[in-house]
Amino acid sequence: MAVRRVTTQTLQQMKASRTPIAMLTAYDYTLARHIDAAGVDVILVGDSASNVMAGHETTLPITLDHMIYHASCVVRAVKRALVIVDLPFGSYQGNSKLALHSAIRVMKETGAHAVKIEGGHAGVQAAERILEAGIPVMGHLGLTPQSIYRFGTYKVRAREAEEADRLREDAKLLENTGCFSIVFEKIPAALAEEVTGFLKIPTIGIGAGAACDGQVLVTHDALGLTTDFSPRFVRRYAALADTVTQAVQHYVGDVRARRFPSQKESY
Ligand code: KIV
Repeated sequence: MAVRRVTTQTLQQMKASRTPIAMLTAYDYTLARHIDAAGVDVILVGDSASNVMAGHETTLPITLDHMIYHASCVVRAVKRALVIVDLPFGSYQGNSKLALHSAIRVMKETGAHAVKIEGGHAGVQAAERILEAGIPVMGHLGLTPQSIYRFGTYKVRAREAEEADRLREDAKLLENTGCFSIVFEKIPAALAEEVTGFLKIPTIGIGAGAACDGQVLVTHDALGLTTDFSPRFVRRYAALADTVTQAVQHYVGDVRARRFPSQKESY
């Protein structure tokens, strides 16, 4: 049976009908297949791949080529979800021509459906240029990990009035520019609720309370594969690190004791 694809219009309709949007990250074919089949609406090929796939401390080192590799693996797996790809650090900041070139590479070489960029007024020119080419853009405000060395810490953003006002303005600016949605990361729930209320486009929260139009988590956190990272906004829906460890220990034990392979598993 043909599967009805999620589009940016679907997300707009979901906001209108107050149907919460479920979004998760994916970086590889196998997990993306399970995530898509389980009914997630949006898959983000996040630059968090830099942390969870490559083991870097921040998202800064991942390159456009790496993102394109991850995204093309994910796109091959997905039948229903909208696939959005993060433009990585250095591939769009301060240069709208470069931004357009990076977004076009992502769209052409991966088959993904949209790109995401971090930041408000600083990213608007890039967003405008990409949108002019017909490529949907998602914004990302609040704690934007590509700016971690400016923030100096991963603590909650926009608690102070000045930064909260800036976030309100940036959100409106991104909407007026034509972004189809905005991620709010680690901001007070009351602020996310207020901005979600006055924006026409859907907001997706991560550590931004329950009033956003949708929620996103890094899949490796939600599945309990990452164990050294447990901020309060992560809910663990499984303990896969334990499952993997136990399964591998079982396998090692079977190999050492010559219980594997059995006769039935041999030719
Ligand atoms: O890179 C990523 O995974 C993200 C989400 C945390 C929103 O940007």
